[in-house]
Amino acid sequence: MLELVDIRKSFGGIDVLKGISLKAEAGRIHALVGENGAGKSTLIKVTAGVVQPDGGNIRFDGAERRWRSPGEAKSCGIHVIYQEFVQFPDLSVAENIFLGDKRLSPFGLLNRRAMLQQARELLAKLGVDIDPSVLVGELSVADQQMVEIAKALSHEVKLLILDEPTAVISGREAELLFVKLRQLRDEGVAIIYVSHRLEEIFELCDDVTVIKDGEPIGTRLVCEVDQPRLVSMMVGRRLADLYPPRRRFDTPPATVLTASDISSGARVKGCSLQLRQGEITALAGMIGSGRTELAMALFGGLPLDGGWVEIDGTRFHRMTPAKAIALGIGLLTEDRKNEGLAMQLDVAANVTAASLGEVTRHGLLDKAAEARIAETAIADYRIACRGPSMPVAQMSGGNQQKVLLARWARKARRVLILDEPTRGVDVGAKADIYRMMQEAANRGLAILMISSELPEVVGMADRVVVMRDGLIAGELQGADIHEHSIMTLATRAHDAGLKVAA
Ligand SMILES: Nc1ncnc2c1ncn2[C@@H]1O[C@H](COP(=O)(O)OP(=O)(O)OP(=O)(O)O)[C@@H](O)[C@H]1O
Ligand SMILES: [Mg+2]
Repeated sequence: MLELVDIRKSFGGIDVLKGISLKAEAGRIHALVGENGAGKSTLIKVTAGVVQPDGGNIRFDGAERRWRSPGEAKSCGIHVIYQEFVQFPDLSVAENIFLGDKRLSPFGLLNRRAMLQQARELLAKLGVDIDPSVLVGELSVADQQMVEIAKALSHEVKLLILDEPTAVISGREAELLFVKLRQLRDEGVAIIYVSHRLEEIFELCDDVTVIKDGEPIGTRLVCEVDQPRLVSMMVGRRLADLYPPRRRFDTPPATVLTASDISSGARVKGCSLQLRQGEITALAGMIGSGRTELAMALFGGLPLDGGWVEIDGTRFHRMTPAKAIALGIGLLTEDRKNEGLAMQLDVAANVTAASLGEVTRHGLLDKAAEARIAETAIADYRIACRGPSMPVAQMSGGNQQKVLLARWARKARRVLILDEPTRGVDVGAKADIYRMMQEAANRGLAILMISSELPEVVGMADRVVVMRDGLIAGELQGADIHEHSIMTLATRAHDAGLKVAA
């Protein structure tokens, strides 16, 4: 179906793809893996005509191709679901699916009825229950992704490429996605699948190609490799342990932050929890259970409608981000693009964004001080970049995440809240981030980690608080922390909600 031969690409004199070859066959799912910045997304963009290669050949569907535009690749049957997919939240599902589709708008006008009807048929084919007339902005991220797939299927798709589709979904939603992908594979579609969650490769894929620093490492049948082997191909060394060794607490640690019966908006309905010095507390639960909103309420990013937060003995009925930062609380948001990073600024500016006091002298920015701090962060976190002055917009996703973590780990003195800290991060970098988290905890920070990855929760947490439907469903500690106990709390029938309502 697709054959890439010796693809080369450089940006500004830096070789990003150094001769990559890959074959994706009809009726097979081909995993593409590699560390952050290895070149996966770039290779996909070359395949889809978004980026022009400097060298190499693309054969697709029996012919030699040289895409002049993404539209040309699309019309031949290549469809990509990008790492950060672009949708129009204020348009309906149907409009998002058929936007720019010439078949339905011959005179530039969309035939609404035909469009709604076709959208309904496509969604039915996917087996998802989404009303094509609602606005995309009102859908969950998982449903938005289904809309993206429906969009792909609205064309004749021969090759479907997914760039980290499960970075934004988890658990059941991922399972549903896999069912659909297997179905498409069985219908003869060739699929290329990019993910940093290696379990998924073993569950879903037939073949796997590993690239490292833009170079091919090898292609294997998935059934021929195991996870440690794959990891060592990716990172070029055996990775001892992903998680740092467990720590013991001889005396119960002091409480740093207490949240008492706090509510905020519709998603946080009376939650209490405590964060302790040196402890890593995980906040687990299904997507939409209110975890992010609870964290935002603690940080003052969402208003406290009820309850209070006590920090180091002082009680607050109102919180603002400025007050939270002054109290020593740091928050790494899950949405790095919109809320976290200044994409057009460089690494140095982003690392020091929360600590401007340290890099200004008499009201002037001290570029040298900024660069020194950034150099340290780059070394500590193994951030792959050209140096402190590289714009973060040009960095790979995982390295952007490290920049943000570096910012907050420096800034937070008492509490560090991390919302999905390893989303989109490669295994090697994950191990780095876990190590940094434990070091921060050892320095006395109370850490609250929101995570949808159960192995990560089990591997890292000293305590687990599980949310369900805006309420705290339960708390687990020590040997009680395992995937099954967390899932049970996260999904049990809505009895707790009824009790509160009564
Ligand atoms: N437009 C660009 N200009 C300059 N450099 C770029 C550009 N796009 C990508 N790069 C660089 O190319 C390299 C490969 O990036 P790419 O996004 O393909 O990595 P990736 O394998 O998809 O990583 P991740 O797992 O983090 O998504 C990175 O070093 C990145 O900084
Ligand atoms: Mg990528």
